[in-house]
Amino acid sequence: MTPTTPDESGTGPGAGADRGISRKTLLRAAVAAGAAVPLLATGAVALARDARSEGRSLTPTPFCDDGDDPTPDQIEGPYFKPNSPLRTNLVTPGTAGTRLTVSGYVFGRNCVPLPGVLLDFWQADNAGAYDMAGYTFRGHQFTDTTGAFTLQTIVPGLYPGRTRHIHVKAQAPGEPVLTTQLYFPGEPRNNTDAIFDPALLMNVRDAGGGKQATFDFVLNVDGDPGTGEPTDPPTDPPGGTWAPGRSYTAGDRVTYGGAAYRCLQAHTSMAGWEPPNVPALWRRE
Ligand SMILES: [Fe+2]
Repeated sequence: MTPTTPDESGTGPGAGADRGISRKTLLRAAVAAGAAVPLLATGAVALARDARSEGRSLTPTPFCDDGDDPTPDQIEGPYFKPNSPLRTNLVTPGTAGTRLTVSGYVFGRNCVPLPGVLLDFWQADNAGAYDMAGYTFRGHQFTDTTGAFTLQTIVPGLYPGRTRHIHVKAQAPGEPVLTTQLYFPGEPRNNTDAIFDPALLMNVRDAGGGKQATFDFVLNVDGDPGTGEPTDPPTDPPGGTWAPGRSYTAGDRVTYGGAAYRCLQAHTSMAGWEPPNVPALWRRE
């Protein structure tokens, strides 16, 4: 696990306009959280996320609308590995580093929380090194029925050429993959990293000797406020050995629509996750 030469400092999307975070973001989170816990009544969610907006004028938008920009994409960089383990906790016994919890929601453009979104995280360890031999600090998970996710990890270390960041791929069922990175506020290198985008800043606070961060993704997809099911009406299935509701493991082979696919990541299949739709899970052979 030797630090390898980073090569992520090329031309990325660059530092975009400071989009700021409006009340809409807070309200989206509160609405989503309210489905499971009465956070809306207490304002706890809004308070937790308000720090991100400190010093900025907040628009008094009293409701969620569909005017928010989708989460911007970023370069993948050289350290992604497919087939990460299914897990929400990347911390193992003896792991060095400051404990970090990242939580939030994934929304479609119309503010509807998206369940079943694949989130695949990878990051450097406390010393700024990526594990290219194994899967330390790599893991994927799916948003729950409220569109929420939680990741247990550590604050990633710095390595030459980059500011502090966490990589992630996000993919709603049947939709394209969003590859992006999450950033930490107050990092000196945020000012010099050509890839850094303030729209991707997490809200981070100290908590119990560690840190808690929040970030809400907005995917460029139409969420279905009715059922959360794929919007395509059922048609004659293309057929094949693939089927929803099955547990597949890496290496499994299926056919679908006349093509053969190999499973890249263990998962339970579901409608909308047909192999052609989820390149993060299935590779065509
Ligand atoms: Fe990186």
